[in-house]
Amino acid sequence: MQQQLRIGIAGLGTVGGGVWKHLHTNAELLLQRTRTRIAITRVAVRRAERAEALGVAPELVTPRWQDLPEDPNVDVVVELIGGTTDAYELISRSLKAGKHVVTANKALLAECGEELFALASRHRRQLLFEASVAGGIPIIKALREGLVANRIISLHGIVNGTCNYILSQMSTTGRTFEDVLADAKALGYAEADESLDVEGHDAAHKTAILAALAYGFWVPMHQVYTEGIRHIEQEDVKYAHQLGYELKLLGIIQADSAGAVEVRVHPTLVPREHVLASVNGVFNAVYVRGDIVGDTLFYGRGAGADATASAVIGDIAEIACMGPDAARCRGVGFDALYARVRGIEDIHSRYYLRLEVSDRPGVLAAVASVLGEHQIGILSVIQPERDSGKTSVPLVIMLHDAVERDVNAALAKISRLEVVKEDVVRIRVETFAKK
Ligand code: HSE
Repeated sequence: MQQQLRIGIAGLGTVGGGVWKHLHTNAELLLQRTRTRIAITRVAVRRAERAEALGVAPELVTPRWQDLPEDPNVDVVVELIGGTTDAYELISRSLKAGKHVVTANKALLAECGEELFALASRHRRQLLFEASVAGGIPIIKALREGLVANRIISLHGIVNGTCNYILSQMSTTGRTFEDVLADAKALGYAEADESLDVEGHDAAHKTAILAALAYGFWVPMHQVYTEGIRHIEQEDVKYAHQLGYELKLLGIIQADSAGAVEVRVHPTLVPREHVLASVNGVFNAVYVRGDIVGDTLFYGRGAGADATASAVIGDIAEIACMGPDAARCRGVGFDALYARVRGIEDIHSRYYLRLEVSDRPGVLAAVASVLGEHQIGILSVIQPERDSGKTSVPLVIMLHDAVERDVNAALAKISRLEVVKEDVVRIRVETFAKK
């Protein structure tokens, strides 16, 4: 028997426009697969001309998102307005009013996920969020369903399309950061506030959501170490190549046997032969190591209207398939083993350092001696010849595995050496070794 599911969409921006369009593109296919007619019965949009341009019937349109939770002709509210204030109100009012909710709002879930899932559970409604992480890649369903039998050993994700686009373009074309950022904005990848992308916050929100799914507890955002890509220079991309690496913004999550979990986002050197090194442009990828399955890779478009709409519609279809009894909200699950975050100072990593030093005898020895005092070994060194007219030279050093606290202490001393001329550049290096 054919059922009907009535959808209210809030927000007709890049993602909302894509959802509107593709719910029509594949309407018949969705009907066959879910045995449910998915009908859009209300659209809340601030600018009526946007609705008009998309061909939304005027009688469906309201300028007030507040109308959706109150509308008796809406079963599912699709929150695509973004931000954490109105969106929070919309989702909580909708759940309280007995609506299911589908959202793409990573910032809101990362900040208030625990509370919102508890609310959904109390009201026996679904709160689905596939589009919040990695655009079109069904990574949420993969972690919740496909990999449910596994303890997650580690997860490495390229989860911000804008940053990956910028870093790939810097790597392949030699263009500057600012130049490439303008392209990413024009292509509709970047957030309205682009600093969310380039300062790493968007990736941090997504990584926190993945960590909650992998380890069953919500990591407070202030405990997610976050470093963006604004400071990345062409010179470091070039040396990375010379050393056999690509530069990527990675979200890294891994647990130790004592129950502590690292959750961090930062530019990372990835060995060229690793599969994540060849993920380019707006593509995202999530590399998950499970204790039973071993290594798995999920790859696809991480941003843009179509990819994100695919994920939102997947959630709507899931609710349609569950039928009228879609009452048990799963939240993010729970794992009694893990509940603690390991701070960045306690991580173990390899490191890339670039220093600008005086070109005179004894400099390398002085730097190596400080590293030695802190038990930090050197893997390799590049010291190109001095450009004419300059009195300093770059010194690029790859370090062995070390504890971040020791590296920080050594760098504090190194930057005070009289021969060191500029701020030291430090980039973490990932080996993906099995621990
Ligand atoms: N600004 C985000 C990105 C959009 O670039 O990945 C998708 O979440």
